[in-house]
Amino acid sequence: MDLLEIMRQRRSVRSYTSEDVSEENIRKILEAGLLSASGRAIRPWELIVVKERAVLQKMAESRDHGAKMLEDANAAIVVIADETKTDVWPEDCSIVMSNMHLMASCLGVGSCWIQGRLRTSAGGESTEGYLRELLGFPEYYRLEAVLSLGMPESVPEMREVTDELWGKVHLEVYESKREK
Ligand SMILES: Cc1cc2nc3c(=O)[nH]c(=O)nc-3n(C[C@H](O)[C@H](O)[C@H](O)COP(=O)(O)O)c2cc1C
Repeated sequence: MDLLEIMRQRRSVRSYTSEDVSEENIRKILEAGLLSASGRAIRPWELIVVKERAVLQKMAESRDHGAKMLEDANAAIVVIADETKTDVWPEDCSIVMSNMHLMASCLGVGSCWIQGRLRTSAGGESTEGYLRELLGFPEYYRLEAVLSLGMPESVPEMREVTDELWGKVHLEVYESKREK
């Protein structure tokens, strides 16, 4: 499959079967993350792979909403970064997340981005504080996001690039679509 075809088929998958994601596929997904571009090649990120069911259950509470799929996920990859190394750590981490999500899709593994940065747990504390306590990363590591992983129960339909989306592309200068 060429890259554009993989991108056409990529969707966020939030329901999973009980089948395990193979070790080989988890490794390939991690490899896709580790190969990511990074400002000044600093690579400030660390990836925490969680497979322990009890921990995944607790992680589902790390957000007030938007993380429930972790209850049925087979694994999750938590992306954190050392903020003392670079001011573009959110961008660096986003690329890691995106590459892993795309790789998962390419392998037939369901995955979904769960926002962590600037979000709140079900108990009202920060998602970052909740996961720091649970997973033991130090203060100077900041949380970006969590990628849930599981074999898809169903895969949403692929999307088309609509005329509305094409309308976001401007040639040479910004062209307003609003009525003056
Ligand atoms: C920065 C970002 C944050 C997201 N946060 C969440 C989230 O916390 N929970 C969730 O279920 N989906 C989350 N998503 C997935 C989006 O909801 C999803 O990409 C969007 O609805 C488009 O659907 P698609 O990915 O299937 O094309 C996030 C995606 C991005 C890029």
